[in-house]
Amino acid sequence: MNFYVLTLFPEMIQQGLGTSITGRALEKGTISLEAVNIRDYAENKHHKVDDYPYGGGAGMVMQAAPVYGAYEAVKENMASPPRVVYLTPQGQVFHQKMAEELAREENLVFLCGHYEGIDERVLEEIVTDYVSIGDYVLTGGELPAMVMIDAISRMVPGVLSNEESARTESFSDNLLEHPQYSRPEVWRGKNVPQVLLSGHHANIERWRREQSLLRTAVRRPDLLETAVLSEKDKKYLHE
Ligand code: ADE
Repeated sequence: MNFYVLTLFPEMIQQGLGTSITGRALEKGTISLEAVNIRDYAENKHHKVDDYPYGGGAGMVMQAAPVYGAYEAVKENMASPPRVVYLTPQGQVFHQKMAEELAREENLVFLCGHYEGIDERVLEEIVTDYVSIGDYVLTGGELPAMVMIDAISRMVPGVLSNEESARTESFSDNLLEHPQYSRPEVWRGKNVPQVLLSGHHANIERWRREQSLLRTAVRRPDLLETAVLSEKDKKYLHE
C-alpha cells in the first residue's frame, strides 16, 4: 500500500507516522508514505499558495493550481488514477469498514486543507472521497489523514504481527473489546476476575464475550443495532 499526502506540513505527517507500528511497517516496506509539500508546486516566486476568497469573508482559500500540481506529480507514476481522499468535516464520517475497504487499494492520496478551505474547482477535479473523522472542526486535515492512515495500515496484510492481528478487538462483530488484565493479580486491593486465572478456556471465552456485550450495551448501545449476535448473546443481553 502506497500512501501519498498532499499537505502544507509534510514534516507533521512524517513524524506522526514514523514511529510505532506504522514506523515499523514503513521500515519493512509493507507500506510506503510520501508527504508532498503543496508549496513546492506554487507557480509564483514567493511560493504563495493561498489568496482572498471571491465574494469576501474572513480567512484565506488555498488556490487550485498548486494543489493540482502536487496531485499530478504523485499521479504520474501510477497505472490508473488513484482514489483521492479530501479530509473535511463536511465528509462522510470515517469508520472501521471504510478502513478495511480502503486497505484494498494499491495507492491512496490524501489531500489536507488549511485556512478556510480549498478552491472548489480543484476538489471537483480530483477528489473521489470526502471524509470527516468526527463532528468537530480541526485546524487542518493532517491529523485526520494520520488517523485514517493508521487505521488503514493495520488492515494491510503483514503490518500487524500474527499475535497483534489474532487479537479480537473493538468493532469485530461491531462490539467493543472485553477488558484486559495483567500482573499483579491484586493491585490496590482490586483482584483480577477469577475466571481469567482458572485456565478454563471455554469459560474465559464466554466471560469475555459477555463483557463485550455488557460494555457495548452500556457505552455504545447504538452499536448493538448492527452487531452480529448469536442466540446465546441475545439471551444474555435480555437477562
Ligand atoms: N478538517 C478539519 N476538521 C476535520 C474533521 N473533523 N475531519 C476531517 N477533516 C477535518
